[in-house]
Amino acid sequence: MNERILFFRKNLLQWAASIQRPMPWKGIKDPYKIWLSEIILQQTRVEQGMPYYLRFIEQYPTVHQLAEAPEESVIKLWQGLGYYSRARNLHATAKIVSGELGGQFPENLDEIKKLKGIGDYTAAAIASFAFDLPHAVVDGNVIRVLARFQGLDGAADTSAGKKEFAREAQRFLDPDFPAQYNQAIMDFGALHCLPAKPLCSSCPMQEECRAKQENRVDELPAKKAKIKKRERFFIYLVIRTPEETFWIQQRTGNDIWNKLYEFPLLEFAERTSLPLDKPEMVAELFFGTPELPLRFIGSSKTYKHILSHQTIHAVFMEFQVEKSNFGKIKQASALENSLLVDQLSFKKMYPIPRLIARYWEEKTVSLRLI
Ligand code: ADE
Repeated sequence: MNERILFFRKNLLQWAASIQRPMPWKGIKDPYKIWLSEIILQQTRVEQGMPYYLRFIEQYPTVHQLAEAPEESVIKLWQGLGYYSRARNLHATAKIVSGELGGQFPENLDEIKKLKGIGDYTAAAIASFAFDLPHAVVDGNVIRVLARFQGLDGAADTSAGKKEFAREAQRFLDPDFPAQYNQAIMDFGALHCLPAKPLCSSCPMQEECRAKQENRVDELPAKKAKIKKRERFFIYLVIRTPEETFWIQQRTGNDIWNKLYEFPLLEFAERTSLPLDKPEMVAELFFGTPELPLRFIGSSKTYKHILSHQTIHAVFMEFQVEKSNFGKIKQASALENSLLVDQLSFKKMYPIPRLIARYWEEKTVSLRLI
């Protein structure tokens, strides 16, 4: 057996036994909870993911309860994590496991991978943590630790790099303790072999670490190629009525945030501002008629919202419907999928993108201060 690998496993597991990193999903065997935690942790860091995990487990203690929940409630609970197709896949998979598999997750890697929203990483996590099957997880932490220890130059976003890391991860995995080993290497990456300023001088593996020995710790893992992000410019219209309600609209189609709610939106390919001295133009844009002018109340700063493949620049503009126009405006309703809501039901009932929540929260805080 390869001495380096034995050395690595032994020191890694010893290190793991010497540290404390309590997390509610650590060491458990329930595949439902493991699956849930891993889907959440694909989306956010441990500290931010923990309250989400605890709320999900409290509201849906088993896969059956998750399966039976209305989709909108699941998405509402997911709100703030972003990438809402993960929440939809989560719900769809819960239905399959609950309905077709009698509540049992399959106990082999290939069968687990057939479930919606479960890729190589999540399948290996469930297989190893829940069923002690010898499959290595490969996430950012694992890639960093192995790239350094083995001096691997490949970039993890190329297909050759991916293959190499998957192969190395599987070679290094301790088949006698797959659950402990997978947890240990992720914890080691998160706490010790840090992206910047790793704690090399107290590392138990430093003498065999190629990056450390060759002074290449800062170079590894190789940086991913930067993708050029699409820039989008949004103007949201917050149109308030004399009854203290406002319009929201449900997104549809093959774009970000499908089925989430937002304010009526005007989108532009370039930075644009609305002609505020011409309120009838705004009314025309919104209601399809210039005869119902709106009174401009105020405009927000530009919010920059960064997603994986696009950057959104959003401005929120608030308008007031005059009392005398309200009756006509209610009927005008030129917008599809729109509805009038009040503040409380908006906050409680409708899943919204984080961008909208950011604006709304900052606004509520500043109003409270006034
Ligand atoms: N990141 C993803 N899964 C994790 C886990 N089980 N422990 C720590 N960090 C993680």
